[in-house]
Amino acid sequence: MPYGSRLAATMTRRLGRECVYTPSARLALYLALRRWCRPGARVLMSPVNDDVILFVVLAAGCRPVQAPVSPWDGNIDPAAVPESTWREIDAVLTTNLYGVPDRVLELRRRCERLGIPLIEDAAHAIGSHVDGQPIGTFGTAAAFSLSKHVAAMAGGFLAVEDARTRRELERLRDDLLTPRRLRDDLDVTLRPLARSTVRTLRLVRPVWRTMQRLGLMERDGFRMDLHAPRLTTSARSAPSLTAYEPWVRVDLHGFRVRHGTLVRGQLGLRMARLEDDLARRRAGVALLSDTAWASTALSERAVHDGPLPLFRVPLLVRDRDTLLERMVDHGMVCGYVYDPPLDDYAGAEFVDPSPDPRAARWFASHVLPVDPLLARRTVSALTRDRATAVRPTFVPAPQEPNPTAPLGT
Ligand SMILES: Cc1ncc(COP(=O)(O)O)c(C=O)c1O
Repeated sequence: MPYGSRLAATMTRRLGRECVYTPSARLALYLALRRWCRPGARVLMSPVNDDVILFVVLAAGCRPVQAPVSPWDGNIDPAAVPESTWREIDAVLTTNLYGVPDRVLELRRRCERLGIPLIEDAAHAIGSHVDGQPIGTFGTAAAFSLSKHVAAMAGGFLAVEDARTRRELERLRDDLLTPRRLRDDLDVTLRPLARSTVRTLRLVRPVWRTMQRLGLMERDGFRMDLHAPRLTTSARSAPSLTAYEPWVRVDLHGFRVRHGTLVRGQLGLRMARLEDDLARRRAGVALLSDTAWASTALSERAVHDGPLPLFRVPLLVRDRDTLLERMVDHGMVCGYVYDPPLDDYAGAEFVDPSPDPRAARWFASHVLPVDPLLARRTVSALTRDRATAVRPTFVPAPQEPNPTAPLGT
């Protein structure tokens, strides 16, 4: 039986697509990029994304092309992408940031017309859907992360369209896995337990502050150190996961480890609790969508289609950085802040900058990603701190003339 096939079968039943088990979503994305993009391919993506994903794209030997985004959710705004950019790209990579769906119908139509792959990053979006269809079933391939939704420290999937492609990708995956070490398996099994103990004992604040003081974090700010000269050197070996490993492994050093039955058994148990987890997320999203800090897009969606089981709820607030610090004082750490946008972070040597970076900058610096499982505590903390809601004020740049018919917008 292929490695991880029992977990993959569970995911296939959920999604209705063939799935390959991977130890992480980043490895799943790497596999997809290697399978569908030749070295040098230009990949359109949102600059409001985890820096790890930028390095995955670079490791695959591709050129990241930063898209204009919606100031409401940080996802690609297809209508704002210049025609000249559409003509030059070879693939689109979505984000589904915090679980809020990308504009996948428009992106899929574009990709079909151009004959290029649509790769869905569904790491944040395991229970999200568009018109009743699950995110992760619109594109050529989709990556999922168990580290996000069921609080595991490992696990992911690559969903693909047919069994033949699945088998091909299983072989590609097996070539990339590194051998298992008992220490890694114990680390992955015990860490989530340690994390929930810290939370239960209400020790989040002292533990977090101590880790900051001792320099135990892999990132000083929201972004890891770029190490530009080393990155330039690594580019000579691309495509190569090994050459980019110092960047790609951040936050998840076992991202390509062939974990044993201990870890996979634990993931199976956690997956069995997924529906319950998603139901609790929906309840938290419903509560947070009803606050002034939620964008209107979020609250209207919650009213019309019911709340999505988001990974994080993007609240839009003034003085976001101060509020992040205050949240730690309240015993809650809001991670997953992707500020500055990737083009400001990495520069033109490593990415094609967005033609209009304002929406990404605005969103990245105002979003407070809140865990819906902590919705009540968050609302009372933000109310006590008199958090103020904000809305984007700038006018988007005018579009260049579009020589082809608009795509359903
Ligand atoms: C948008 C996004 N995609 C993919 C990943 C990678 O997921 P994993 O940690 O399972 O590799 C992350 C990690 O945080 C992420 O934020």
